[in-house]
Amino acid sequence: MENEVQKKRILSGIQPSGDLTLGSYLGAIKNWAALADEYDCYYMLADMHTITVRQVPADLRRRTLTQVAAYIACGLDPEKNVLFVQSHVPAHAQLAWVLDCYTMFGELSRMTQFKDKSAKNADNINAGLFTYPALMAADILLYQADLVPVGGDQKQHVEICRDIATRFNGVYGDVFKLPEPYIPQVGARVMSLTTPENKMSKSDKDQNGCVYMLEKPEDILRKFKKAVTDSDACVRYDPAAKPGVSNLMQIYSVATGRSYGEIEQEFDGLGYGDFKKAVGEAVVELLRPIREETERLLADKAYLESVYRTGAEKASYVANRTLSKVYKKVGFLAR
Ligand code: TYM
Repeated sequence: MENEVQKKRILSGIQPSGDLTLGSYLGAIKNWAALADEYDCYYMLADMHTITVRQVPADLRRRTLTQVAAYIACGLDPEKNVLFVQSHVPAHAQLAWVLDCYTMFGELSRMTQFKDKSAKNADNINAGLFTYPALMAADILLYQADLVPVGGDQKQHVEICRDIATRFNGVYGDVFKLPEPYIPQVGARVMSLTTPENKMSKSDKDQNGCVYMLEKPEDILRKFKKAVTDSDACVRYDPAAKPGVSNLMQIYSVATGRSYGEIEQEFDGLGYGDFKKAVGEAVVELLRPIREETERLLADKAYLESVYRTGAEKASYVANRTLSKVYKKVGFLAR
């Protein structure tokens, strides 16, 4: 028990706003399972974040449950990691309101994700989309997380979380621990297979650019076969000049553990056809056990329910401690 208290803490999450993608897997989840022994780990399903964009309610529920199963299938043992649904722990919404009052309009206006999402959803630029980073800061700060393992696109949100925490601590003393982003060396920014200058994203309208974690092998192979390359016919890592090929190399490198130099040698003198086939096959093999295990777990709803219920209890315990401290600091009368 003593040891557990001293372990550093991790918090991360994924929005069940679309089916899980290869990008979320390589940029985030793949790196989570290995952390369980060394850290005290909390992994959330960020369902509250998803309604900043309109969702079909039944689909959101289905995807949330599937994501619980996928987390476990990716190696997150519920005995060693706290797996929970954000909306099951009311402290997230409660702290988010307090943090809204310590977050500046100007800093929220600068967020890249806000700018992107408001351009994509011009008919629904709601206040939640704007204050999204304050809710994400609440997610992290409630657990006094040391590290936040995310892909490169979330770095800015972890930075604003630190700024909010620093501002709050500046007024009230050391209430929040300042978290660090934890971004993988390779796989931090997986790009679309069809438009490799854009991030692979679950909200992408072009289905061929995005590979889903639970997709059928034949569909994965087809998408890689069609992936955009260039007219150079040479497998070489150069993201600026060869974005498509470099993205495929990144994916292949994470899937096989080979370095860029080794990959260049492996495909020296071979055409892009062979290369794309090899990448597709490596991804199929990487994802196969996860898909099979997710399907098996989805047949046992009672087990999945027990996992997220227990997770919500454990998460609430830690979150409520931080929330009480914050309420006291800002001057709310104790109930
Ligand atoms: P989300 O749901 O968009 O993405 C989940 C995780 O996957 C990473 N990721 C990628 N990594 C590499 N290449 C890609 N193409 C790619 N696409 C996604 C993301 O960086 C992220 O780590 N706001 C967050 C969810 C969130 C959260 C939190 C994260 C809510 N609260 C607290 C950490 C801590 C989001 O929208 O991620």
